[in-house]
Order: sequence, then structure tokens, then C-alpha cells
Amino acid sequence: MPGSQRSALGSLMLIAAVVGFSVGAFSYTAGWLSPGRLSSKELVSALAPPGGPALGHRRNHAKGVCFTGTFESNGTAVALSKATVFTAGHYPVLGRFNLATPDPNAADPTVRVRGVGVQISAPDNSVWRMALIDPPVFAVSTPHGFYDLLEASKSKDPEAMKGFVAAHPEFAAFGEWATKAPWTASYAEVTFNSLNAFIFTDAAGTKNAVRWSLRPETQAVPISGADFAKLGPNHLEEDITERVAKSPQRWTLVLTVADPSDPTADPTRAWPPERRTVEAGTLVVQKIEPEVDGPCRDINFDPTILPDGIKVADDPFPAARSAAYARSYDLRTSEANHYPRTAVSAKP
Ligand code: HEM
Repeated sequence: MPGSQRSALGSLMLIAAVVGFSVGAFSYTAGWLSPGRLSSKELVSALAPPGGPALGHRRNHAKGVCFTGTFESNGTAVALSKATVFTAGHYPVLGRFNLATPDPNAADPTVRVRGVGVQISAPDNSVWRMALIDPPVFAVSTPHGFYDLLEASKSKDPEAMKGFVAAHPEFAAFGEWATKAPWTASYAEVTFNSLNAFIFTDAAGTKNAVRWSLRPETQAVPISGADFAKLGPNHLEEDITERVAKSPQRWTLVLTVADPSDPTADPTRAWPPERRTVEAGTLVVQKIEPEVDGPCRDINFDPTILPDGIKVADDPFPAARSAAYARSYDLRTSEANHYPRTAVSAKP
């Protein structure tokens, strides 16, 4: 076999290993939710590890910690959307830092993908919920591709991942990130990305496709996976709790505006870096609370809960995600006896 082919195969094996390792870690599911094909029930079942789901917990991103804070809107984004949260002012935020795993007890260094759920509320009772992750692109271009990824990752057939990668060339960019991107040792250093595109409408009715990111004010300090592992299995929660107790932590909300030629239905395809960006304001995280008694536990950060001025685009993911999150929410809240609140909070 020529050297270049051998090294390509080596890369594929490496990607397969990363994904295999991430069955527990990066456990998204794919699914096209049309009747008779893939239901949200099948989609959520596919997220479960071989031993079954952790009852009472989110079926993905099960390890997390709650926060509250403020979105300090600077008013600039009214040029893109009439959503009230873009009018200059301060708006309450409820959120959750999390890891993409169905195991609430997973050790931090075993989980490659980190996430954040955010809810921003406005005085007119409008609410914007989002759930963002740290890779720069998604792993697959359709919800069904995600289901295929999970099935391949779980398969005992050694050829399954190779077959998946061959059938999903779009996976390469995510695989490259997953194998090569440096780790960091703090949620405070993570850039979180919407990846999915949404349509923003301004007061005059002008529409633009937009993706967004939360860019940390704290400089990222790369760390090797081995050194990160030395910090312990729950370092991320311990670290963010300590940092926020000392001073609020901040992220800039950066909106990226698509050109008409940019793909809006495929989160594996990044938009060119020269696209116009608008800094809409700052997410200020002021208080961390453990999930068990925290305000984020019983929230569903459904990405289709949007204020007037933002709506879904032709991207198929938000609808598939909404159905899967609702299913997961229904299951976990009906299993609350498996994840009871602590005795302290049960007191009147
Ligand atoms: C078809 C694709 C996907 C499926 C089936 C899926 C499934 C799920 C499920 C079942 C949950 C738990 C929901 C709950 O119980 O409240 C969840 C949480 C989450 N997902 Fe997804 N997901 C998908 C794609 C994505 C994408 C594209 C992103 C980001 C761009 C993302 C980011 C997150 C985050 C950050 C959370 C945790 C939110 C929280 O803290 O409650 N997911 N996902």
C-alpha cells in the first residue's frame, strides 16, 4: 500500500478510535424525524450506553452544572434582529455548562465535546434558549447521519466505523478537530458555537441567516490531554465554581452573518472567516450552583424556543433536536425519584 494511502487509513483509524472512545462522550444521535423513518424515541434510545441510560438525567450532556447571570446587550444587534434581548440593556440569564456524555459520572478528560445551555429572558416575556458546543463544525450534515454515527460507534463490527467514514466524508473536519484541537482546563476558556443557522429579522423585515458564538474573555491556555487528566475527574466544575466565586466570568456574543451563497442547512460546512460579525453584548456568569438543586436541572434548552425576530432556517437539526430534547426531558422528569433533590432543599 502506498505511504499516502497508509497514512490516510491511519487517520481514519484514529478518527474511528476517537469516535469509539466517544460513544459515551460525544453521544449525539442522528435522525430524520419523519413518520415511518426515525422517531425521537429511536433517536434518544440510540444515545444510551450499553448498560442503559442514567435514569433521571439528560440523555445526552448528562454531566453539568448550573449558572445564573446577565446578558449585557450593547444594542448593536438591533441592526440584525428586532428581538427584545438586542435592545441595549441587561437581561437575566439561566444556564448550564456541560459535557457531551450520557454518563453524569464520566471523568472530564474522557469527554471531548463541551457545551453550554443558555436562556436569556426579556421583560416582554420573550425567551431565547440555545445549546452550543465547542467544535467549530458539527460531525455530520444531517440528523440521520448522526444516528448512523452512533450506531457505527456502538457496533461490534470492526469495519463499522470505516464504513461510516466512507459514507460520511463530511465527518473529516470534525474528526480533525477531535483528534488535533488542544484541550483546555476550564469552561471559562471555551468558545461555544451554535453551528446551526437561524434567520434573524430586523424591524424593517430584512432577513439574514446567522450563526453565533460565545467567545470567552479569558485567554485559552492549551493543555495536553495527559496533564488535564491529572487535574482530576471533576476539575471543570470545581474550576468554574472557584473562578466565579472570585469574579464574574464573561463571554462576548458574536453573531456571524451569512452571504446568500453560504450553506445554511449544513452545520459541517463552516462559513468563510471574512464574513461580517456583530458583537451583540456580553454574557456575564455571576453564580454557579450544583445541578442537583440548581435552577437549570429541570430546564430543556430547546434550540427552537426563540424570541420574535429569530426563527429556524432550512437547517434540519433544530427540529430534530427539539423532538429529541422533549423526549429526554419527559423521560428524566418522570424519573425524578432516581435523581432526588437533596434533603436540605426539600425543607420548606
Ligand atoms: C440530531 C442531533 C442531536 C441530538 C439527537 C441531540 C440530543 C440531545 C439530547 C437528548 C439532549 C438532552 C436534552 C435534555 O434532556 O434536556 C441534548 C443536550 C444538549 N445538546 Fe444536543 N443533540 C443534537 C445535536 C446538537 C447540536 C448540533 C448541538 C450544538 C450545536 C447540541 C448541543 C447540546 C447541548 C449544549 C446540550 C445540553 C443542554 C443542557 O444543558 O440542557 N446538540 N442533546
